[in-house]
Amino acid sequence: MGMIGRVRSQAVDASKLVTDWMEHRTGIVTMMEHFLFEPVPKRGAWIYTLGSLTLGLISLQFLTGILLLFYYVPTTDHAWNSIYYIMNEAYFGTLIRGIHYWSANFLLAAIGLHMAQVFFSGGYKAPRELNWVVGVILLLLVVVIAFTGYALRWDQDGFWATVVGMKIGSYSPFVGGQTIRFLMGGDTIGPATLSRFFAIHVWLLPAALAPFIGIHLYLLRRHGVFGSEFEYTERLAKLHERQRLERFERYEEEDGEPNTGRRDRADRDGSE
Ligand code: HEM
Repeated sequence: MGMIGRVRSQAVDASKLVTDWMEHRTGIVTMMEHFLFEPVPKRGAWIYTLGSLTLGLISLQFLTGILLLFYYVPTTDHAWNSIYYIMNEAYFGTLIRGIHYWSANFLLAAIGLHMAQVFFSGGYKAPRELNWVVGVILLLLVVVIAFTGYALRWDQDGFWATVVGMKIGSYSPFVGGQTIRFLMGGDTIGPATLSRFFAIHVWLLPAALAPFIGIHLYLLRRHGVFGSEFEYTERLAKLHERQRLERFERYEEEDGEPNTGRRDRADRDGSE
């Protein structure tokens, strides 16, 4: 074995030592496998990443949004200037605002594609109907977050887009007028509107989004991805059997530290 090969195998051994040590004490490896491994149908597996892509983009929005708050000021006399500062003076300001803007756009596209994939694969059928409903709530939340975010720039684009949006909303039967008045904080778009949109964009809806994402992922884990059960039940059974045998063999070979809880207790009790 060459030197590079030796170094590499030593590195592998060392990292295995560390992960085994942690696994023995915290069960972290098993936990990661439990949370990360999800069988997907063999055919078109890539299309099942659209939900994760959506989740990734939302995480990016949280991260860059928090960073924008380091400089953004949500008042009518400072909002535009604070963004001007972010774009021209602040370190990485252009990059961070650019990511927040583009990731918001890709996010809407990703949600649409994810929804279409679920629709065309029949992933919304029993017992997953409730996850579709949770998805619709997530979609509405994300759309309103995007809409309220646009107003925060307080430039001509954002301002007039908000006016148009409010006008459209005000035509909704029965509740339209009241809802729009509440959102605007009065009869016209002004300082109160910016404060409310800021509160909604930064606090209210992100806080509402998080638990619904949690429910979405919980239900997903409960039922598994639609389609995987047809192709994977047998393959998974085989895999588990192989893992079980491998674990057994390793146990037989090893005379080092045993890694099962049962052995531990036996050691301590002095039996065996
Ligand atoms: C915040 C937005 C959303 C996030 C982060 C998200 C995330 C995910 C993830 C990670 C999955 C797992 C596998 C996959 O990608 O197919 C999934 C599945 C699913 N999503 Fe979403 N999703 C969102 C929005 C939606 C929307 C708008 C709908 C529909 C209205 C929806 C309905 C579903 C359903 C029914 C499943 C189960 C599909 C199956 O088992 O094949 N989701 N979602």
